[in-house]
Amino acid sequence: MGRVLVILTAAAAVVACSVATVMVRRRIKRRRKWRKVVGLLKELEESFETPLGRLRQMVDAIAVEMQAGLVSEGGSKLKMLLTFVDDLPNGSERGTYYALHLGGSYFRIIRVHLGGQRSSLEVQDIERHSIPTSLLNSTSEVLFDFLASSLQRFIEKEGHESISSQDVKRELAFTFSFPVKQTSLSSGVLIKWTKGFAISEMAGEDIAECLQGAVDRRGLDIHVAALVNDTVGALSYGHYHDPDTIAAVVFGTGSNACYLERTDAIIKCQNPRTTSGSMVVNMEWGNFWSSRLPRTSYDIELDAESLNSNDMGFEKMIGGMYLGDIVRRIILRMSQESDIFGPISSILSTPFVLRTNSVSAMHEDDTPELHEVATILKHLGVPKVPLKVRKLVVKICDVVTRRAARLAAAGISGILKKLGRDGSVGEGRRRSSDKQMMRRTVVAVEGGLYSNYRMFREYMDEALRDILGEDVARQVVIKAMEDGSSIGSALLLASSHSVRTISNI
Ligand code: BGC
Repeated sequence: MGRVLVILTAAAAVVACSVATVMVRRRIKRRRKWRKVVGLLKELEESFETPLGRLRQMVDAIAVEMQAGLVSEGGSKLKMLLTFVDDLPNGSERGTYYALHLGGSYFRIIRVHLGGQRSSLEVQDIERHSIPTSLLNSTSEVLFDFLASSLQRFIEKEGHESISSQDVKRELAFTFSFPVKQTSLSSGVLIKWTKGFAISEMAGEDIAECLQGAVDRRGLDIHVAALVNDTVGALSYGHYHDPDTIAAVVFGTGSNACYLERTDAIIKCQNPRTTSGSMVVNMEWGNFWSSRLPRTSYDIELDAESLNSNDMGFEKMIGGMYLGDIVRRIILRMSQESDIFGPISSILSTPFVLRTNSVSAMHEDDTPELHEVATILKHLGVPKVPLKVRKLVVKICDVVTRRAARLAAAGISGILKKLGRDGSVGEGRRRSSDKQMMRRTVVAVEGGLYSNYRMFREYMDEALRDILGEDVARQVVIKAMEDGSSIGSALLLASSHSVRTISNI
């Protein structure tokens, strides 16, 4: 009996020993894998880094490129497009105006009534719809017929309160969030599509004419009287409420900025006959490029696989359409190089399956167990990962969004520098203490990335303070707006009706 007991005890000890050995080995293996992941994360952080010195070089590069784009057509990656807008709304406009806004993911139709005073601005109706994905690579006819039919439904719903009873056509501004070479306030040709649109036969077409044609075919009493980039609409709206607004930036599906420039600085424009002496310039900053941009292997892959490769490099680092896909690519690579995410999910290999709103939801998940992160990962085919892996995902979101926000801040500072409103003189000498020299400057900001993503906002504001210094940053007001691009385009149209200050160039 005693012998049996000894044998059993020995056997148990052997089993316990081997279990322990297996466990220790597993733990060592897990630790090694985790160390690999930590190494990958470190590499990631380094390649996405945007130290202040680098941001300042970018600010300089943006100001230089802006200058080059104003001197000659094609002189810079920044197109610096003329808009034929020299007079921004000021609150005295009157009448009823419409705007149709084709953005990156939504389109909106609005009607505004203006009573001659800021306080009497009435946004009477607004409709917002997602753009059906089938439209993105349809034909010009399908796209414009779709827009015209939406306008028709909007007008039919108006009933008798509309202005048609006054026997005048409805005046409509077309807010078109794509690069256009304008030939007047009301006409212009599409340069190229961005943000996933790919309707091939349209490049070179007059956009306002296309919409007018579709509207006429449906017999609608609408006159497409202005063609307006969304940034220009946002600037108009900002200026309507606050005359210190001199620039506008959109952080939405795509990204872009416009600002008010002195006409004598627009050298490529031979005869800018404006009475105000200035004109709004649509920068199309999404196409900005500089060797100082922190471009990573993820950006290179994303660009190579995009519909518009070698184009819109800056937009692909800061645009809402792309941030989610950068995060997805990082998670995918990590899951290929270690098994911390479990078996590689095929969903995770699908481009654009992770949207930026999910990135913000994960980034701002404040539940102790990171429930939101777990849910989103589950939808990506990554069902069960431990808390430390979920924390890693939050960190990835942070790295990608922080870079985007800091680059965005450098973009805004570049505009301020070009306008001499960044508090610097000459070769980087700062005069931020000389408050006399600093004017209040308002930058209107629109777009879901800014308004719905707190961490993006916070990082951008922080970077602006870092770049400009506290004193100057205090004079720079970033004003967030909702539907400003659409409403602003209608206001712009109204103001162009009150005073026509610009003729052909
Ligand atoms: C377009 C711009 C537009 C921006 C924001 C970019 O992709 O090129 O024209 O202003 O998106 O919507």
